[in-house]
Amino acid sequence: MRNTIKIILHTFFIALLLFSCKGDKDKYHSVLERIEAESKDYHGDSISSEPYISEIKSIEITEGEHTFLIPERKSQIKSYSCSECHTASLKELEDGRSGKKAHWDINLNHANEITMNCATCHNGNDMDNLKSLTDTPIDFNYSYQACSQCHSKQFNDWKGGAHGKRIASWAPPRLSNTCVNCHNPHDPHFETRYPDRFNTEYENERK
Ligand code: HEC
Ligand code: HEC
Ligand code: HEC
Ligand code: HEC
Repeated sequence: MRNTIKIILHTFFIALLLFSCKGDKDKYHSVLERIEAESKDYHGDSISSEPYISEIKSIEITEGEHTFLIPERKSQIKSYSCSECHTASLKELEDGRSGKKAHWDINLNHANEITMNCATCHNGNDMDNLKSLTDTPIDFNYSYQACSQCHSKQFNDWKGGAHGKRIASWAPPRLSNTCVNCHNPHDPHFETRYPDRFNTEYENERK
């Protein structure tokens, strides 16, 4: 009796093995086999992100050994160009002010006051550019250079693609979000939050 069960079980497993490989229907017997076969003629340029990113205005940057694209920023900044109003020194502008501060909606919530104020990144005499800690002008399109002065760890991760996010697919050319696409420079911290949850009960009620 035991032997019969054994034989039945064995036949069953052999059949399972034979039929798990669906012959012509699926060309490959396993994922590994498929990867091996399909990567044979892959030279790194047979697929491209080009169709997905061609609509996005971007600029090419080279940082160390990494050359990639980031989205252009200046056309996205509401009050650019700054020099439309910043025609005089800040002192003069402030003296001529009647009523509300011009940028009343910007409250700095980044580092403490000893480390940072508006003039850490903005230059009253050249408002159309950002500035480094040593007063070197930084184009708004390259604002990551301002961030990298203090956040070198995240900057290094970002260059290599470990911090931040790539746009479109993994295929070249690489277009990566720049720091200010995700972090508001005036209030860069993210609050902790619950992961998104899919509420099935709610979905049922709506049916
Ligand atoms: C619509 C006019 C206008 C535009 C556009 C504008 N500013 Fe200003 N900004 C002002 C005025 C007026 C002041 C000074 C008086 C005040 O604070 O109200 C000022 C002050 C500032 C200050 C000093 C704030 C402080 O509290 O010390 C900074 C920094 C600044 N602007 C940055 C910018 C940058 C950067 C841009 C462009 C991205 C810009 N502004 C565009 C009108 C403008
Ligand atoms: C850590 C650097 C940093 C500091 C400090 C800083 N800014 Fe900015 N600010 C930036 C960057 C970077 C941008 C451009 C962001 C972008 O590309 O959208 C910007 C943009 C702006 C703009 C244009 C915003 C818009 O959407 O039109 C204004 C106005 C401005 N800053 C004013 C100020 C004022 C006023 C202060 C002080 C209260 C200040 N900033 C402090 C980095 C800084
Ligand atoms: C002058 C130095 C300096 C510059 C320039 C600077 N930061 Fe910061 N940043 C700090 C300090 C100091 C803190 C607060 C301490 C901390 O939490 O690490 C901070 C905090 C942060 C945080 C929150 C960290 C946390 O733990 O949640 C983020 C995100 C951030 N900065 C992003 C940026 C981005 C993006 C830029 C460029 C637009 C930038 N920083 C420019 C010094 C700087
Ligand atoms: C695609 C969006 C994205 C981009 C681009 C991005 N960051 Fe972040 N960053 C994040 C997220 C998400 C976190 C994690 C926040 C958390 O854990 O609460 C973070 C965290 C941080 C922190 C807090 C410390 C940490 O590692 O948790 C700093 C500082 C920071 N980023 C700086 C930068 C700088 C500088 C750049 C550009 C060189 C940059 N980030 C680009 C999304 C981004």
